[in-house]
Amino acid sequence: MAIVTSTEMFKKAYDGGYAIGAFNVNNMEIIQGITAAAIAERAPLILQVSKGARAYANHIYLMKLIEAAIEDAEQNAGFDLPICVHLDHGDSFELCKSCIDGGFTSVMIDKSGLPLKENIAITKQVVEYAHDHGVVVEAELGTLAGVEDEVNVSAEDSSYTHPDDVQEFVESTGCDSLAIAIGTSHGAYKFTAAQCTRNEQGLLVPPPLRFDILREVEKRLPGFPIVLHGSSSVPQEFVKIINENGGRMPDAVGIPEEQLREAARMAVCKINIDSDLRLAMTACIRQYFNEHPDHFDPRQYLKPARAAIQKMVQHKLVDVLGCNGKA
Ligand code: G3H
Ligand code: 13P
Ligand code: ZN
Repeated sequence: MAIVTSTEMFKKAYDGGYAIGAFNVNNMEIIQGITAAAIAERAPLILQVSKGARAYANHIYLMKLIEAAIEDAEQNAGFDLPICVHLDHGDSFELCKSCIDGGFTSVMIDKSGLPLKENIAITKQVVEYAHDHGVVVEAELGTLAGVEDEVNVSAEDSSYTHPDDVQEFVESTGCDSLAIAIGTSHGAYKFTAAQCTRNEQGLLVPPPLRFDILREVEKRLPGFPIVLHGSSSVPQEFVKIINENGGRMPDAVGIPEEQLREAARMAVCKINIDSDLRLAMTACIRQYFNEHPDHFDPRQYLKPARAAIQKMVQHKLVDVLGCNGKA
């Protein structure tokens, strides 16, 4: 199967009450771990590449690795693995154009930090170029707290999406999906301890997602695919392993998985997960080094790290996104 757009994936996900996982990729082991999980669960995939990932690994390497994953699935698992290759947080027309020209089937233009009219103008420009080339566009309204690629958004500046804006935005830009801010946030430290309560085990419990805003958006954009960024759950078992093996990540906290499952049943068709991949990999490698201080062959520690990514992604596909068996 060739690389596909997300159009068909989102239509089925919307109607079926599930979401597609959009996982960030930066190297071969991450791509292999994610695609092995999708093959095992017969799930469609969005693999997304940030500006930083492109700078780190190089556009052409990532494209070829993704093409290799599709070919490998076909030849060795007899499975037509549908993958949409997406630019995550594109910050300029030029970057979006370069990814479109380089074979991506989806791009995000993120001008959510600009006033509405300016966000509309740049998004529209990207949509026109993308649609002329058979590529779909994700845009964003509202601001997430946390770290977005190279842009830092402080918690005080974070503002939820205003449902009153979404119709005008989607109609004037022609975008194909919309990322909204309902309380998710990027990174492994999504909330300060002061914003959370603590449960009986002393673990931080974050404020619930704003399902009221999601319902309002859904009402104003019936049938339209909504995207959630910053949706890692920061599994505490990974944080514990990291902290027990030389790391220091106090009070790392994410979005509870049940809330993401609930959002996936609604208009949310794409859920972005990056930090959980990083945590799974880092936990595994830290533990490996602690247990094998004399090892130095990267294959020895990258192999279990890749397997840890696969296990975590399979869990997300089945228990959080509900997209297993949908490819
Ligand atoms: O939302 C941002 C993603 O987690 C990508 O992060 O810019 O470090 O690649 P990155
Ligand atoms: P997390 O940091 O919660 O994994 O979010 C990733 C993301 O939104 C990528 O665009
Ligand atoms: Zn994001």
